[in-house]
Amino acid sequence: PSVSLTDLFDEKSGTISPAIYADPQLYELELERVFSRSWLFIAHETHIPKAGDYLATYMAEDPVIAVRQKDGGVKVFLNQCRHRGMKICRTDGGNAKAFTCTYHGWAYDIGGNLVQVPLEQQSFACLDKKQWGARQARVDSYKGLIFATWNMDAPTLSDYLGDAKSYLDLILDRSEGGTEAIGGIVKWVIPCNWKFAAEQFCSDMYHGATSHMSPMMAASPDTLPGDPTDFSGRQFRASRGGHGTGFFVEGAEWLWRVGQAGEHVSGFDIAAAEQRTNLHRSGKRPVGFSQHMTVFPNFSIFAGANTARVWHPRGPGEIEVWAFGLVDKAASDAEKEQMRLMTLRTFSAAGTWEQDDGENWVEVQRVLRGHEARRTLFNAQMGAGAPRGEDPTFPETITNAFAEEAARGFYAHWQKLMTDVDGSFSKAGSYADAAE
Ligand code: FES
Repeated sequence: PSVSLTDLFDEKSGTISPAIYADPQLYELELERVFSRSWLFIAHETHIPKAGDYLATYMAEDPVIAVRQKDGGVKVFLNQCRHRGMKICRTDGGNAKAFTCTYHGWAYDIGGNLVQVPLEQQSFACLDKKQWGARQARVDSYKGLIFATWNMDAPTLSDYLGDAKSYLDLILDRSEGGTEAIGGIVKWVIPCNWKFAAEQFCSDMYHGATSHMSPMMAASPDTLPGDPTDFSGRQFRASRGGHGTGFFVEGAEWLWRVGQAGEHVSGFDIAAAEQRTNLHRSGKRPVGFSQHMTVFPNFSIFAGANTARVWHPRGPGEIEVWAFGLVDKAASDAEKEQMRLMTLRTFSAAGTWEQDDGENWVEVQRVLRGHEARRTLFNAQMGAGAPRGEDPTFPETITNAFAEEAARGFYAHWQKLMTDVDGSFSKAGSYADAAE
C-alpha cells in the first residue's frame, strides 16, 4: 500500500489518511481482512418467506445465493459452480427446486448440495458428490435481518452487534410484528469508495443542513428550522464492532413532512401514521427521529426515509448500492404504499435527497485522483472528547447528533481489522474482550 497500515487512521489526532479510499492494494486487503471476517447483511426475512425462495446477492465481491430451506432455516452459499466456477444461479431471485449450472449442467439442490452431474456414470471414475457442494457461509439473523460470514470463528451475530442492538431495536422493534421489506430492491452504481457511504450513515448528521438544503427548501419552505443545532439529538458509538448511529429526539418532527415532498401527501398524515405504528412499545424507549445507522461494515439504514441498503464494494472507487424500503409490518397497506413512494422520492436511485449525497462522494473520489490530494490528511475531530451523557433512555450516547464519534469508532475498528494479520482479533474470544 502507499501508506503504512498503522497510519491509516489516528484516533488520538482524529485524522484519516485519504489513501484508504483510493489505494487498490488496501482495497484487496479489505476484501480479505474486513469483509471476509465480518458479518455481512444478506437479506430481510420477508425477501425469502417460503421454502425454495432465493435471492442472489453478494458478500462484498463474492456472489452468493440465500435460500429458504424446507425446515424454515436459511442457507447462504457461494454462487460458484465447483466444476469450473460458473455462476450456478444467473437470476436475481425467485423460487427454485434446484440450481443447474448453465455451463456443463451440474445441479445443486436448495441447500447447495451437488445432486446431479451429467455423464456421471459414463465419464467419472469415482466422483464423491458430497465433497463438491457449493461453499457454505455461516448464517445468523437478528429481528428480521439475515447476515452471513465466511469467518467460522466469528462471534455470534448477537455478540457482534453488541450494544448496538438496542439502537437497532429503535428501528426494528418499534411496533408489534417488527418490520417488513417492501417495493423490491433498487440497485445502482456510484463511482466512490464504499466507506464514504457507510461512514456517513454511521455518523454524519452534520452534512444535512448544507448538502440537503435544496430539497428541504423545495419541499417545505414554511417549516424550515432556524438553526439545526437547536435540535436535541444523540450519537452512539458502539463499544466495539465499528457500528454507529445518530438521531434527533425532539424538534425535528418536521423532517417527516419534508421527506414527503409536501403536496404529494395531502389527505394523508404520515407523521401520524408513523407515530401510530412506532408507538413506544410498553415502556420501551421513545422513537428517535431521522435515525441514520450503519452496522459495520456496509449495511446501513436511514429510518427517516424508511430505507435500508448495502454498499457492495466494487473496487476502491465504486459501489453498487442495493436499497429496499423497510417499514413497520403493523402499518396499513395504504401507509406502506405512501412510505414506498416517499422512499422513492427521497432516498432512492432517482430520489431528490439521494443525489446530494452521491454528488459529494463522487466529487471527493475525483479529487483523490490527485497525487498530493491522496497525501493530505482529513479532519475527523468533531465532538472529540465529548462525554457520554447520563441519559437512561439512550444509554452511552453523546448528547449531540452533530459529532464524529461514531465515525472514529468505525475507522478504529476498520483499522484493527486491517492490521490483524492472522485474524485473531475477529475470533469470538478476543472480540468479546476487545474494548475499542
Ligand atoms: Fe458448472 Fe461446468 S462450470 S458444470
